[in-house]
Amino acid sequence: MTAAKTIPDRAETPFAFSDANQAEVARILAKYPAGRERSAILPLLDLAQRQQGWISRSVVEAVTAVTGCPPIHVWEVATFYTMYNLAPIGAHHVQICTNLSCWLRGSDEVLRAARDVFGVGFGQTSADGTVTVSQVECLGACVNAPMMQIGDDYFEDLDYDSAKALFQAIKDGRPLTAGSQVGRQCSAPQDRMTTLTTDPTTAEGGRWTAPDSPAAGGSGAD
Ligand code: FES
Repeated sequence: MTAAKTIPDRAETPFAFSDANQAEVARILAKYPAGRERSAILPLLDLAQRQQGWISRSVVEAVTAVTGCPPIHVWEVATFYTMYNLAPIGAHHVQICTNLSCWLRGSDEVLRAARDVFGVGFGQTSADGTVTVSQVECLGACVNAPMMQIGDDYFEDLDYDSAKALFQAIKDGRPLTAGSQVGRQCSAPQDRMTTLTTDPTTAEGGRWTAPDSPAAGGSGAD
């Protein structure tokens, strides 16, 4: 179960969109009709988080100011989605999926690798402050489970050894190779095709015909 999010109770970390991001704010808001600025809360929070690393009260106030929404509308979004960090995190954010497919395929081993390399578990940041490990629910890459997200990239088809190698690379400052860690192409079958092995448009391929259709000798009427 993902830990409940808590709203930071201090107005620490003053925040204002940078000059470059002011232009981005205007570009984002221009996508929505006048009076619908609330629809821009998601991308504006994302923009602020990329600038500051997390969503503080002052970020919520800045987004409130540019959208004209009540602050509660911004808080509702910030506290609902796990992608928003309500506390400072390390430069590397390791998000390990533990939902059903990933758990069945070994997400416990991915977490064990994180503990062994970084010395921390879910909801914790490494002693040097550089890596935060989070538990997340389905990131939509179930077919290549188990998987995790580091920064903006997905790392899939993990096991203890491949996860540990990735974590060690972070620790050593080496680049990571995203995607399947077993060389799978996209989400293609890992060894051989088990479906669509024949051409379904030919008789040999087994085009399915409703038993009561005229083509199958039936009347076609219910
Ligand atoms: S269950 Fe992990 S990506 Fe869906």
